[in-house]
Amino acid sequence: MCHYCGCRQIPLIRDYIAEHDRSLDHGDRALRAISTGDFDEAAEQVRLMHAELLAHWRGEEDGVFAVLMEEELYREHIEPLMAEHRELDALLARLDVRDPGDQALLAAQVEELKAHISKEEDGIFPVTLTELSGPEWDRAIGAWQAAHPGQELIAD
Ligand SMILES: [Fe+2]
Ligand SMILES: [Fe+2]
Repeated sequence: MCHYCGCRQIPLIRDYIAEHDRSLDHGDRALRAISTGDFDEAAEQVRLMHAELLAHWRGEEDGVFAVLMEEELYREHIEPLMAEHRELDALLARLDVRDPGDQALLAAQVEELKAHISKEEDGIFPVTLTELSGPEWDRAIGAWQAAHPGQELIAD
């Protein structure tokens, strides 16, 4: 993990990272519940993971991603990340925690999500530090706010 560039000190990036952590926690809890046969809990954790990610993806895609995509250089890195969002969204929307095939898919997707998050936290987020201007941060924060109505960014 990149802990050195300073991007973790930026409030919006801190929220994105907290959302990553919460999503993975729900995924891990769902897998643990499946392993103990608690399918109601597993389904609830998948539902929470999906809800967390839907708001997260909106905040990310309409925020920092939208700003960086204006540069051709970043578009080729961000488009595959957005495709991975859609892929996981489709799975979580229809996942049956009692189905052994879906259980294996969920386990694989939680691992994929970890790799996806590393690409963002180590690859994309550090770039925001040098690339985003003040108005662009305002735009990105506005997108986060629209994706998280009634919530506030993590305070110091
Ligand atoms: Fe993402
Ligand atoms: Fe993300």
